[in-house]
Amino acid sequence: MVTAYDEPSARYVDEAGVDIILVGDSLANVVLGHADTLHVTVEEMCHHVRAVAAAKPRAHVVADMPWLSYHVDNADSVRNAGALIRAGAQSVKLEGGQVRRDVVRSLLDAEIPVMGHVGLTPQSVLAFGGFKVQAKTSEAAKWLVEDAITLQDEGVYALVIEGVPSAVGTLVTEALAIPTIGIGAGPDTDGQVLVFHDLLGMTNRTPAKFVRQYAQLGPVIVEALTNFAADVRSGAFPSESETYANPEDLLN
Ligand code: KIV
Repeated sequence: MVTAYDEPSARYVDEAGVDIILVGDSLANVVLGHADTLHVTVEEMCHHVRAVAAAKPRAHVVADMPWLSYHVDNADSVRNAGALIRAGAQSVKLEGGQVRRDVVRSLLDAEIPVMGHVGLTPQSVLAFGGFKVQAKTSEAAKWLVEDAITLQDEGVYALVIEGVPSAVGTLVTEALAIPTIGIGAGPDTDGQVLVFHDLLGMTNRTPAKFVRQYAQLGPVIVEALTNFAADVRSGAFPSESETYANPEDLLN
């Protein structure tokens, strides 16, 4: 699974044969420039889900339910998830364990497939006191496994596990029949997810430990733009071949 937030990124991810496109609420920090994911709304998410869906990807499209879109009451949560589905998502993802039991049930009752997300859930950044690796004690690891089993029993079709020691990623994966998708959860989860801009080296943030940058597109983009600006200033762009010819009688 890889994130995408617009038509071209969705097209690239799909062309690469990735199975799932996540329109993540990481939209907030990766694309919209916020410090965390707490500042993105359902409307903003829908705007980007529409752009991703416009790529008509073969891959499954799952959209994150943003913070406060599933925390107020179940009817509100179903309406918000419905808006994401109508924008073009095929399922929704939400963060949290046993506490999300009712909302998962309500969404499934409304025929909306749900992906879970446990561990270092970024929407809990204030409650956690920062982006901190979770489940570092055996008691906390047991709770996480309980959370995962509860979500599975409620009917989530897959589970993202983020920011936990690798043994916890293994433990949760072994405890579940549904697929797990890890991000900073070690090598034993069934799948892995990375953020598009992290994977391609298009960020000025220090990448987290779990990120592998498969390209460094940031410097490539800056070099291309620098060359464009220099060519415009020197008059080297546009050349004759990049210019429409003048009809003979144009200026007569
Ligand atoms: O919003 C996001 O990008 C995510 C992934 C990092 C799992 O939730």
